[in-house]
Amino acid sequence: MTSAGSVGIVGSGPISQGLATLWAHAGYEVTLGARSAASASVVTVPDTVRVGTFEDAARHDTVVLAVRHGGAADVAKRLAPHLDGTLVLDTMNAVALIGGRAASALEPGVTEGQWLASLFPGATIVRAFSHIQDELLASRARRTPGVWAVAYATDAGAERHRIERLIDDTGYVPVFAGPLARSSILDPGGAAFPRLLTGTDLEGLVTAHRLPEMLDRFNTATIGAVLHEDVQWSFPYGPTIGVTETVHGRQAVTEHLARVQGSGIRISDIRTELETPTGAVVHATGSFPTPRGPISSPIVSIVAVRDGLISEVNEYWDTAAIR
Ligand SMILES: NC(=O)c1ccc[n+]([C@@H]2O[C@H](COP(=O)([O-])OP(=O)(O)OC[C@H]3O[C@@H](n4cnc5c(N)ncnc54)[C@H](OP(=O)(O)O)[C@@H]3O)[C@@H](O)[C@H]2O)c1
Repeated sequence: MTSAGSVGIVGSGPISQGLATLWAHAGYEVTLGARSAASASVVTVPDTVRVGTFEDAARHDTVVLAVRHGGAADVAKRLAPHLDGTLVLDTMNAVALIGGRAASALEPGVTEGQWLASLFPGATIVRAFSHIQDELLASRARRTPGVWAVAYATDAGAERHRIERLIDDTGYVPVFAGPLARSSILDPGGAAFPRLLTGTDLEGLVTAHRLPEMLDRFNTATIGAVLHEDVQWSFPYGPTIGVTETVHGRQAVTEHLARVQGSGIRISDIRTELETPTGAVVHATGSFPTPRGPISSPIVSIVAVRDGLISEVNEYWDTAAIR
């Protein structure tokens, strides 16, 4: 078989074995690095996979890091000199259980990808395969290739084609989740963690996660760029304050929102909850000009997404407060 590419995998646990199996079946030359000879001896991978040391695995242009998170900083010190200029795929998760719920054990506001990038300043970091459970990783991709999806995040836009090919060759559909700073959806506590979704569903979930930055475009009157052609935007209590109840279609909604924005209304503190593949509940604070001065009101919107765009909004303001 001619090699489709080559990849080194640092770590010998179930994620490493699953990925080694998938790439080996796709014709890649794979080196899996184990921490010790004893760990290497219990690895189960196809015969074509070379089992060596962490350093052996790190000597590739593409390297996956899949060690226990607690060991990541030490492994970084050891391997960083080998990884300058390398494409590094990070699968690792710092998982905390808070009240029985999975959460990130990192400092609030820091994504796993940002944390790893700070340890490897010379490498190109990609967050990938972090949200698929090891029991499913190899079996799902092999049984139904091209159905299930892996979301990835990176700041290296120029590497996206190469990354997508690597994911595609495992049998998963690649879905771009954005830059590392906005990849919390892939980390413990994020809406994709741990989940196996189809490509379309994962695209929808990623769009739902991006809603705060999409809706912030209201403030700059550029919101049309993120609206679906058939969008329907409703203000169910709008008529009580003289605002049209429902507007249909991208152009009409864009014009309507530009008028609203022109009247001095601003939104801030936009955040999502209940992100799903079809949308999310969005909370925000609205500042409304009135003759008595600006009044602040909470806004709650039920937002649907389709094809990476906003397709329906039902927006509820505190109309009693601003009347
Ligand atoms: N399991 C899942 O479902 C899943 C899903 C997505 C992402 N992940 C993440 O992917 C990574 C790999 O997970 P995994 O389940 O395959 O196995 P794991 O048990 O988390 O890690 C196994 C590997 O880490 C090495 N290791 C353990 N402690 C170490 C330390 N202090 N210093 C250096 N190496 C150390 C192990 O070496 P020895 O065997 O020699 O101890 C082994 O090579 C983890 O960070 C995990 O959070 C896991």
